[in-house]
Amino acid sequence: MNNGMKIGILTAGGDCPGINAAIRGVGKTAIVKYGMHLVGISDGFTGLIHKEYTELTERDLSGILTVGGTILGTSREKPFKEARKKKNEIRKPDLIREHYEQMGLDCLVCIGGNGTLKTANLLSQEGLNVIGIPKTIDNDVWGTDMTFGFDSAVNIAAEAIDRLHSTANSHKRIMIIEVMGHHAGWIALYAGIAGGGDVILIPEIPYKEEKIAEYLMHRVEQNKPYSIVVVAEGIKNPGKERSVAQYISNRIYEMTNLETRETVLGYIQRGGSPSPMDRVLATRYGTAAADLIADHDFGKMVSLKNNKIIAVPLKEIAGKLRLVDPEDPMVLHSINMGNCFGS
Ligand code: F6P
Repeated sequence: MNNGMKIGILTAGGDCPGINAAIRGVGKTAIVKYGMHLVGISDGFTGLIHKEYTELTERDLSGILTVGGTILGTSREKPFKEARKKKNEIRKPDLIREHYEQMGLDCLVCIGGNGTLKTANLLSQEGLNVIGIPKTIDNDVWGTDMTFGFDSAVNIAAEAIDRLHSTANSHKRIMIIEVMGHHAGWIALYAGIAGGGDVILIPEIPYKEEKIAEYLMHRVEQNKPYSIVVVAEGIKNPGKERSVAQYISNRIYEMTNLETRETVLGYIQRGGSPSPMDRVLATRYGTAAADLIADHDFGKMVSLKNNKIIAVPLKEIAGKLRLVDPEDPMVLHSINMGNCFGS
């Protein structure tokens, strides 16, 4: 089939494992199944503002499935959030529309997290044909059961926690590990459970320092002299310490006199090759996005619901965050098993 459509594709916001798998899923389906043309836009919305792009052939999509990061580059450019404009300066969304038309695009695929999908929705309201694909290690995109990138990040964080167990045990220390998640505690929750963390602190459940201290002392009394404390980076940090791991570590030591050490996992969680589950999810999202384009079903985000890929309107999900419900069965089961959430 050769339907002649020309698709622009961009990746915006923080990178994560699986983006290239999604680009490949969109591109191969668009080219092989529908005979469409694909244009890769550089560095997120910045590339559309400056008209920086390259034509992508099917050949260009070979060998990228397992590669981390994004072959297109990314940026945190938010075209609708403009600093003060100079006189006679064109609005960035207007520039984007102008370039979209000049490039002869029939559709724009935006691969990104909450910020990107919000912009995607606004561009769609400005009349562009837009499709969103949800990605982020934080797993906090509203309207989908899972974003790709999350599984890889949980694998990395769980492995790090596994490694902390043996050294914590040898030295009888309290190990505090900080994982990503600014607003949502999904990585801390999943990696904490997968790695057998004792204390799990997430932004959605306010913690009390005394509860954590009491819990750790109780473990010592039970002849469990070491513990693992998993904290999401977004939990409250009322101290002067640069990381919440450092803050929690200092407070635990002050309150219990137990020896503590902290690890901040950082960008290791976002780098490297995607897990097989993320490769599959990103590929499913990508192929579904190409099918939506062929159907001219725009203004949608591909989403995973009960293990089926569906499409949800961008306007329904834009601006919302999917947070951990403090009553989530995973939280409750974890508490029932004796874990502490500091509440
Ligand atoms: O991708 C999501 C995320 O990893 C957050 O958890 C983190 O706070 C943020 O990105 C940091 O990203 P950057 O330093 O690239 O802005």
